Amino acid sequence: MPESTASVIAIYPGSFDPLTNGHLDLIARGSRLVDRLVVAILSNQAKQPLFTVEERAEMLEEVLKPYPNVEIGRFDGLLVEYAAQRGAKVILRGIRAISDYEFELQMALMNRRLQPEIETVFLMAGEAYSFISSKMVKEVASLGGNISGLVPALVERRLKGQFKRP
Ligand code: PNS
Repeated sequence: MPESTASVIAIYPGSFDPLTNGHLDLIARGSRLVDRLVVAILSNQAKQPLFTVEERAEMLEEVLKPYPNVEIGRFDGLLVEYAAQRGAKVILRGIRAISDYEFELQMALMNRRLQPEIETVFLMAGEAYSFISSKMVKEVASLGGNISGLVPALVERRLKGQFKRP
C-alpha cells in the first residue's frame, strides 16, 4: 500500500470547564501522534458551566502556547460534522477508569455510525491524573480545598477568583 502523505488532523473535544492537568497530559501526548490537534470546546452545553466559552478558550490559548501543532476550536451541534469540516479523521478521547468506558463506547459507536470514516482513538489517562475531573476540581475549589497540581497554575488562579469569599 502506498504511504499516505496527507497530514493527520485530530479533534480533542470536551467541555474543558475548566482544563485540568489530566486534559493537558492527554493533549501533550496526543499532539505527538498527529500533525495537528484541534482542542474543541463544546459551546452549546445543556449543563450550566462555571466558565463561559470565552473564558475557557482564553485559558486554553494561554496554557497551550508551548504546543505549536495544537489549536483551539469551538463547536456546537454534532461533533462528527465539526470534525469533517476541519478535515479531521481522528477524534481523540481519554479514558481514566472502567467507569468512563461505557459512555465513551456509546459515543464512539454513535459517532462511527454517523461518520464511519472518522475513527475515535483512546489514550489511557496518565496514572497521576486518572482521578482528576473538572467536576471534582470545581467542587474542591468551591469548598476551599487545595487544587494545586490538579490544574495548570492559571486555571488554579481563575478558580480561586471564582470562589473567593466576600
Ligand atoms: O468533556 P465532556 O463533557 O466529556 O465532552 C463531551 C463531548 C463534548 C465530547 C460530547 O458531549 C459531544 O461530542 N457533544 C456533541 C454532540 C454530539 O455530537 N452528539 C452525538 C454523539 S455522542
